[in-house]
Amino acid sequence: MQVTSSLELSDYEQSDMYNLIEKVTQDSNYKPFQLFNAIISTMSALISLSTSLFFIGTWNMYVALILLVIPLLSLTIFLRVGQIEFLIQWQRSGTERTAWYLIYLLTHDFSFKEIKLNNSSSYLIHMFSKIKKKFIYQDINIAKKKAWFNTLLGVMLNVINSITIVLIILSVKVGEIMFGNLVSLIQALSKLNDYSQTVIQNIYVIYNTSLFMTQLFNFLNKKDIANKSNETEKFSSIENVNKIVLKNVMFNYPNSEFNALNDINITIERGSLTAIVGKNGSGKTTLLKLLSGLYKPSSGEMYFNNVSTSNLNMKDYQNRVSVLFQDFVKYELTLKDNVRLSSVHSNNTDQQIKMILDSLNMSFLKPKDDYDLDLQLGNWFNDGQQLSGGQWQKIALSRTFYKNADVYILDEPNSALDPTAEKELFKYFVKLSKSKITMFISHNIKAAQRADQIIVMKEGQVIDVGKHTELLQRCPYYKELFESEKYQDVV
Ligand SMILES: Nc1ncnc2c1ncn2[C@@H]1O[C@H](COP(=O)(O)OP(=O)(O)OP(=O)(O)O)[C@@H](O)[C@H]1O
Ligand SMILES: [Mg+2]
Repeated sequence: MQVTSSLELSDYEQSDMYNLIEKVTQDSNYKPFQLFNAIISTMSALISLSTSLFFIGTWNMYVALILLVIPLLSLTIFLRVGQIEFLIQWQRSGTERTAWYLIYLLTHDFSFKEIKLNNSSSYLIHMFSKIKKKFIYQDINIAKKKAWFNTLLGVMLNVINSITIVLIILSVKVGEIMFGNLVSLIQALSKLNDYSQTVIQNIYVIYNTSLFMTQLFNFLNKKDIANKSNETEKFSSIENVNKIVLKNVMFNYPNSEFNALNDINITIERGSLTAIVGKNGSGKTTLLKLLSGLYKPSSGEMYFNNVSTSNLNMKDYQNRVSVLFQDFVKYELTLKDNVRLSSVHSNNTDQQIKMILDSLNMSFLKPKDDYDLDLQLGNWFNDGQQLSGGQWQKIALSRTFYKNADVYILDEPNSALDPTAEKELFKYFVKLSKSKITMFISHNIKAAQRADQIIVMKEGQVIDVGKHTELLQRCPYYKELFESEKYQDVV
């Protein structure tokens, strides 16, 4: 859990990392313990096995050596089968996640409505059973291989054991050994079989677990590497953010072939309100990820207070930024936690939480005179109160404003709000903009009109920056956005 929290956003935006996390978190609870047990058990079985083997060797060295052939052969075969089994299990994690996701879709409220109405459950169940059938087929194949080798090796073992017993009896007959030794030798032979089985099974477990542990250590190393780079590089810290400058910034997502942002040059200062507008996919949210310090530019420079992000301790900066994400979280927790999760280390009082709720007019949470901060939100847990889309957005906004930051960025903050709530939000935000760095992303030019500067984005580029009236005069693209909004009003 600690390692996952130390990962970067880029890690979470790649599906391979999900596969690794899934596998490692699933098995890491018991695997190290299993490995430890298997090592102890192998050591004790090896000692007993050597004693039996030594005893048989004192009677006949060659027979003792031949008795080792089957265990060694079994070991080689089962390690190979174990490797195949491990690879199959490991490669499954992506598909296993799909199966998990299908169950999640079929059993949660957010998706149930749509699935029920569109009658799509049978299709999803079919997808699920196809995955499970493939797994069962793979498991049966491995089980068949194991059973076949077990039978073959069992037959060979019985033949060798029978020959050995005949040889022991012959030795008694010709007087090479005493009759009493016959019983001890047969007992040693039986123990040798038992212990070699134990050793093989445990080595199989050790091998399989060690393949897993290698992956686990690779995963844990990620954290070490992240920590070490923090230790060795001397980063500047930052206290109050007053200015953000982007110079020739380009950005491309790790697995993407094209640049999500190209040649971005902007300056954003404290005390002004900035709006970012543009069509879907123009790069607004990507720019937000950079401005909030979650990503660094792929090329070009980003400065906070004239300090380049390449020399900056981004954690310090992130502590000074508060963001309402486009896909904000609806925490199935209490009202209090929903607000304070942006700033869990602050000593703010309940009164301060209530003040924020009042500023955004959350009267729907005040059926009596006061807020019940322990009210459970959502419907996953007992006595939860489910909220409307806009009400959830208001809660997320309260969380954003609850954090004491220098920079506030809101991604489509009004997407679910009614006109009254929108008006109240902007009143609050404009007031905040006098003393902070404030930005918001919107498709709504009407909302953007109030900004001190509007950044117009198109296909990953900033095509103009200015005030509403200036842009209307000189930027045809902005005018087009504005006109299309008016058209929407008419329709
Ligand atoms: N995690 C990601 N990995 C790869 N490409 C991404 C990722 N997120 C976004 N993109 C791509 O980057 C481009 C810009 O996306 P972005 O989310 O910044 O657009 P946007 O302007 O916020 O759009 P919208 O108005 O729909 O929210 C898109 O082409 C998108 O496909
Ligand atoms: Mg977006």
